[in-house]
Amino acid sequence: MNVAVLTGASSGIGFAVAKRLAEEGYALIINSRQPEKALEELKSMGAQVTAVPGNLADEETCRQIIAEAERLGRLDALFLNHGGPPIKPMIEVTDEEWENYFRLMVLGPLRLFRQAVPLFQKNKGGRVVAISSFTVKNPYPGIVLSNALRAALVNALKTAALELGKDNIMINLVAPGYIFTDRTREWNESYAEQEGIDPEDIAQRTIQVVPLKRYGTPEEIAEVIAFLLTKNHYISGQQIIVDGGLIVAN
Ligand SMILES: NC(=O)c1ccc[n+]([C@@H]2O[C@H](COP(=O)([O-])OP(=O)(O)OC[C@H]3O[C@@H](n4cnc5c(N)ncnc54)[C@H](OP(=O)(O)O)[C@@H]3O)[C@@H](O)[C@H]2O)c1
Repeated sequence: MNVAVLTGASSGIGFAVAKRLAEEGYALIINSRQPEKALEELKSMGAQVTAVPGNLADEETCRQIIAEAERLGRLDALFLNHGGPPIKPMIEVTDEEWENYFRLMVLGPLRLFRQAVPLFQKNKGGRVVAISSFTVKNPYPGIVLSNALRAALVNALKTAALELGKDNIMINLVAPGYIFTDRTREWNESYAEQEGIDPEDIAQRTIQVVPLKRYGTPEEIAEVIAFLLTKNHYISGQQIIVDGGLIVAN
């Protein structure tokens, strides 16, 4: 049975990807800080699934995830995902926040990736997808931690794709546009508070810049991620944008 590790898998995009991979017959190792509800839901679908609770930024979480994959004896697919950083103006972001979110958004995913590589090599290949954001291509005001730290992850993983292609390891990033999840509610409320308007006004303004005139669903982006994690044979080192054709300002 093929084995997939998915971090940030208890809700939103991560959970939708977990469900798709379960449908594909993969055994899942899911991680998030509180994965219990997702674990039960996936089990009720008939999935073979174990959970490693913990913060992706912590070395111990990573060690436990890899130990679980070793126990299952193989690793075929790795989805690197986590929650988004706080939304605040650049000049209000503290040194401590830069350090903490560097640990979560760059160091943690790269550490887990690095420790997964020997399992992929043993398996004669593997598929990796990391979450990114449309804000990497077009930096968006109020979300500097995402704009800057994701850019570091994108280029680190594109480098890895160049170096590890010889081992048949395909590494890609998927950049969501506006996908409706818990994160969207947080996003709309933060911008509404900053601008002194209603969150619904932010939602309406968002929809206007999406040519498809609606938010995407977690399932729609999960379809693309699941393809890259299970069926892709020749796409590597790419950032695939799934944004309904988003119109960006710059
Ligand atoms: N939704 C969008 O429109 C959109 C657009 C661009 C980029 N993104 C990015 O895509 C990613 C997923 O978005 P989403 O909308 O699916 O978010 P979400 O609904 O908030 O889900 C985030 C997931 O990550 C887990 N998580 C949070 N902090 C974690 C940590 N420290 N360690 C491990 N797991 C952690 C959460 O579970 P626990 O609470 O149990 O830990 C949850 O399962 C985020 O990074 C987001 O910023 C989203």
